[in-house]
Amino acid sequence: MKLKYSLITRRQFLNTLFGGSLIAFFSGTLFSLAKFAFPTLGKEPDFVVLDKKEFAGIPNNSTKAFAWGGVLGLFLKKADGGMTAFKGVCTHMECNVNYKSEQKKFYCACHQGWFDDTGKNIAGPPPKPLEVFEIMEKGEKLIIARKGAKVDLAKV
Ligand code: FES
Repeated sequence: MKLKYSLITRRQFLNTLFGGSLIAFFSGTLFSLAKFAFPTLGKEPDFVVLDKKEFAGIPNNSTKAFAWGGVLGLFLKKADGGMTAFKGVCTHMECNVNYKSEQKKFYCACHQGWFDDTGKNIAGPPPKPLEVFEIMEKGEKLIIARKGAKVDLAKV
């Protein structure tokens, strides 16, 4: 069956096709440029290797930040001297958390989320605990790894 008239004109069809091509081209180009400018953006490793000396002098009941790929990692030296490492990103909407030493808790200022010093979510909207990492040592290196990740210590 042949239509007597078209719903769109030939010009509208070509303009839409041309406009769509331009949008696809520029979004691909912008994405490539963003990946070039920020190579670690959004990437998370299975483990990171840090210099143990940098973390040796941390006072008890305080944290030190490290780069967990493109996001924040937090190394906590607890009040009793125990050490834990966390992904310092809130499980609600991925804001960075910070440690409130006077309360011995992590706080997310975005929506008043709270985590205890084990990373457990205790108040506010965060639905899950903070991700806790494993800590390994090899010589002068400190290896922080995702739980269950395979780390070949011979190659580190
Ligand atoms: S992002 Fe942390 S409480 Fe919402």
